[in-house]
Amino acid sequence: MAIRLGDEAPDFTAETTEGTISFHEWIGDGWAVLFSHPADFTPVCTTELGTVAKLKSEFEKRNVKIIALSVDPVDAHDRWIGDINETQNTTVNFPLIADPERKVSDLYDMIHPNALDNLTVRSVFVIGPDKKVKLTLTYPASTGRNFDEILRVIDSLQLTAEYSVATPANWTDGEDCIVVPAVSDEDARSKFPKGFETVKPYLRVTPQPNR
Ligand code: BEZ
Repeated sequence: MAIRLGDEAPDFTAETTEGTISFHEWIGDGWAVLFSHPADFTPVCTTELGTVAKLKSEFEKRNVKIIALSVDPVDAHDRWIGDINETQNTTVNFPLIADPERKVSDLYDMIHPNALDNLTVRSVFVIGPDKKVKLTLTYPASTGRNFDEILRVIDSLQLTAEYSVATPANWTDGEDCIVVPAVSDEDARSKFPKGFETVKPYLRVTPQPNR
């Protein structure tokens, strides 16, 4: 059964390159990104993991832990990390889950046999402090993900969890937001002291409230 937005992220215990983890306990009180890779020693995955390692401080700033998964065992992950560090000029600084029995992959429906036989596709799950799934993405093996986009979505998720706003197309942190339709004009006047512009009754724009 596919995991849907708002579902509780399935909990599991797994071996990783940083020891055995119990997923919910590992997440703790913050946010998490779980992302899967088709296999170790593959070119696109190598660039993805190097990119995420370089972005670690951006995830940490947002109180987000990151964890990757592929179906290979820990000893293969460890050898591959050596290659990633060498070729991507970085140090992998987050755990990789080993999933040779496909337990976590099955739990998260990461194997799409009609796309890629018995290997995980490029899934992304953003999980909130309440352990609920806030975002899912699925990319094919041939397309490396844009991790700046994942950070951008996390900025939106964290903002909209706190304020009665939504974020428009291509929004980035610091730009104007949209007052959610459920808020009346009267309530919006008190919630958004910087004011709001009514472009249409259903389209009201306000400066980002926490800036
Ligand atoms: C890659 O990561 O480069 C890759 C993995 C599986 C199929 C195709 C590409």
